[in-house]
Amino acid sequence: MAKVGDDMKNIKVGLLGCGTVGTGVAKMLLVNGELIQKRLGTGLELKYVADTDTRTDRGIDFADGVFVDDAFKVVADPEVDIIIEMIGGESVAKALILQAFENGKHVVTANKALLAKHGNELVRAAAGKKVDLAYEASVGGCMPIIKTLREALIGNNIAKITGILNGTCNYILTKITNEGISFEEALADAQTGGYAEADPGLDVDGLDAAHKLAILGALAYGMRINFDDIYIEGISKITPLDIQFAGQFGYRIKLLAISKNTGEKVEARVHPTMIPVDNILSNVDGTLNAVSITGDAVGEIFLSGHGAGMMPTASAVISDTVDIARNLLSGSRTDRIPTMGYQAAKVRKIPVMSIDELVTHYYFRFEALDEPGVLSKISGILGDFQISLKTVHQMGRRTNGSVPVVMLTHYAREADVKNALAEINGLNVVENDPVVIRIEDKNNKY
Ligand code: HSE
Repeated sequence: MAKVGDDMKNIKVGLLGCGTVGTGVAKMLLVNGELIQKRLGTGLELKYVADTDTRTDRGIDFADGVFVDDAFKVVADPEVDIIIEMIGGESVAKALILQAFENGKHVVTANKALLAKHGNELVRAAAGKKVDLAYEASVGGCMPIIKTLREALIGNNIAKITGILNGTCNYILTKITNEGISFEEALADAQTGGYAEADPGLDVDGLDAAHKLAILGALAYGMRINFDDIYIEGISKITPLDIQFAGQFGYRIKLLAISKNTGEKVEARVHPTMIPVDNILSNVDGTLNAVSITGDAVGEIFLSGHGAGMMPTASAVISDTVDIARNLLSGSRTDRIPTMGYQAAKVRKIPVMSIDELVTHYYFRFEALDEPGVLSKISGILGDFQISLKTVHQMGRRTNGSVPVVMLTHYAREADVKNALAEINGLNVVENDPVVIRIEDKNNKY
């Protein structure tokens, strides 16, 4: 292994997984190796690339002995300083990372699902072995959001994080918005274009964005990673009709990951959200990701960039790798910057607010029969549950003998909304389940 202060020797890196991002990492180390050396002062030597797929041509000419099919051999090699885990998934990746820690190696990963579900255990294991666990590429691809929260904003109380954290969903919603096509058509287009997986569930059901929100919330507020308590709703029910109506009220629909620190509790939710067209996030389109962070000193700051893809993600992986290499070369303690941003002893289990307690503005669309008394029945029930209406529109477009009735509410409580809508659903003048979309206004006071 490279020794402290031994700046003549290269730092040796073992890359596990040579799929899209792994290939990007290998390419960046080889093609931009000289540039990295000029900045780091020492070379990063790719000692191994491990992948069970030994047939695919990655367009890289690896030296003899570099490409291996056994990742456990890489984490066992005493010469390797830093392991870059690009395998993804939970079981093998976790076993390899734990073995790497056991063998005193530092680890860089982009594996947000693993961190969201097992991150607390991995952080403890790394600390126990006094090695680094770095994960910039796990959230937002190339956007330096982890470094921003962990280092740049260290003097700030973070009040709020709002992000577009899934490029697949953003691509699909942008397509529906611009072309008026259905969710199914937009998803098929994303799959043809290589922007969505054959099994798109993790993305379109909101889970991938929630994995990322779990990591950001923990970093921002000094809480344990708590994925299980995040409220998650995907985009599969979003229709061109609701997007069109949203536009008429001055909103666009995005899949937002929202987290707010309310003091004793944290709000954490992922769902389709109406945001004003002049909100900067409204104009982040296609596969781009973006995140807005509100801190008590900085106010609001905004990052945007490619949240996925070979070279953007590799850029974040190399940033982490160089940080670790700098620690190695300077002899810094690995906990110089705590893995989760706060001193381990200060990380708390902060409760996540139930979605039922949420207070926000809502958009409802009912398919109602176009006959006398229908509106008063619906609004009467809403009134019974203390839900006050800001505006009501009968949109005048008949669908199967019914008419879309759209309502925007003043602040209302989610539990009241659920109860009222259940009662309205029982009316024989309303067809199908109502559409409910939460609104995040610029001046949302909650
Ligand atoms: N599947 C993710 C997305 C990229 O669509 O944004 C990797 O996090």
